[in-house]
Amino acid sequence: MKVLFVCLGNICRSPLAEAVFTHKIQKLNLQFTISADSCGTGAYHIGEQPDPRTIKTAENNGVAIWHQARQLSPTDLTDFDYLFAMDEQNLNGILRLAGATQHKHKIKLMREFDPHGPGDVPDPYYGTMHDFQHVFQMLDRTLDVFIESIK
Ligand code: 4NP
Repeated sequence: MKVLFVCLGNICRSPLAEAVFTHKIQKLNLQFTISADSCGTGAYHIGEQPDPRTIKTAENNGVAIWHQARQLSPTDLTDFDYLFAMDEQNLNGILRLAGATQHKHKIKLMREFDPHGPGDVPDPYYGTMHDFQHVFQMLDRTLDVFIESIK
């Protein structure tokens, strides 16, 4: 099973979601059956490493992170079993891809699985380290529920 996390820039929310998810999957020894990637609907940061605040937040929470930003592509619709949009704007970005309607069942808002949700995973780019930690906690509890649902 392959899971794709999608945000706007692919340097804050979605690489953190990918790292937290992969950390949990490895702890469960499921890394040979479940894998993850992330991307952005925008092209602004292609090729870049995650934002330094994303890396620091992962480190602060004991999660390894490595990613190089890439943009969402129509082939992602066939390559992945789940595509998780961090917010409504990203969801619309995925749904605008050619062929998206026939893959609609795989395209979801991340916080559909949040016990405190639903809603958007707020964009922390113009925020502080506190906002990044808030995003981490949201992803952490949400991914636990999602993993429980696919295990
Ligand atoms: P992300 O955050 O979508 O969580 O990676 C952002 C990163 C960059 C920009 C916006 C959001 N930007 O406008 O450059």
